[in-house]
Amino acid sequence: MRYLEAGQGRPTVLLHAFPLSADQWLPQLMRPPAGLRLIAPDLRGFRGAGPAFEADLDAPGIDDYGRDILELMAHLDIRDATVAGLSMGGYVALALLRLAPARVSGLLLADTRATADTAEGKAGRERLRAVVERDGSAGVAREMLPKLLGETTRREQPDLEDAVRHLIESNDAGALAAAIGAMRDRPDSTSILPAVACPVTIVCGEEDVLTPMADSEAMHAAIAGSRLIRVPRVGHLSNLEAPGVLTDALATVR
Ligand code: MLT
Repeated sequence: MRYLEAGQGRPTVLLHAFPLSADQWLPQLMRPPAGLRLIAPDLRGFRGAGPAFEADLDAPGIDDYGRDILELMAHLDIRDATVAGLSMGGYVALALLRLAPARVSGLLLADTRATADTAEGKAGRERLRAVVERDGSAGVAREMLPKLLGETTRREQPDLEDAVRHLIESNDAGALAAAIGAMRDRPDSTSILPAVACPVTIVCGEEDVLTPMADSEAMHAAIAGSRLIRVPRVGHLSNLEAPGVLTDALATVR
């Protein structure tokens, strides 16, 4: 499993969004907050990481991505860590909470949701899978870029669109197809939220159209003592669109 690492101190695992990779966290890895050891793995298959697999054959579920992270933590001799997940990374962070709550000592949930896919969401997954099969990762980039970055970012940081396209197109179509299936089939995690006992920070871009603010507000309401950071003029990829805000937010999880 490939992972990137920077900084020293409390272990903090950074889980990337779909359809990106660990490289999504480079802005945070380049300036790790004092006292934090940042570890950013590629989820299974992303950037060609992990054993090769065909979509639909041995297709991983969200919990399998979570088990991979637990194995990485064991390999690094990390008993528990703060887990920060953005969007699909948040789905995996919630899977970790279900699988091994004692190994999650803090949570940062960015631009994500605790609910499962609706019927409409599942139908959207099928459409996106057809795009991957037909046009590969370039097709996914074409479909998703307008929704990943906020309106203000697309207007004011045009270079970011090219950088994100590059991240998406560095992925294998098979890994993307498998992740679409894993997201479609993920369970609802809403019921575990009231029992979350570790510090939780929730971050959401105010221009996020994929996991809108209402999803973050619902998680904030369900987790007593959680903190909600609303990021103005930012869309779904808050850690890339407003890197400093996300970096500072990591330090609040304590
Ligand atoms: C992500 O950013 O990880 C995905 O857009 C999440 C999703 O499609 O549910």
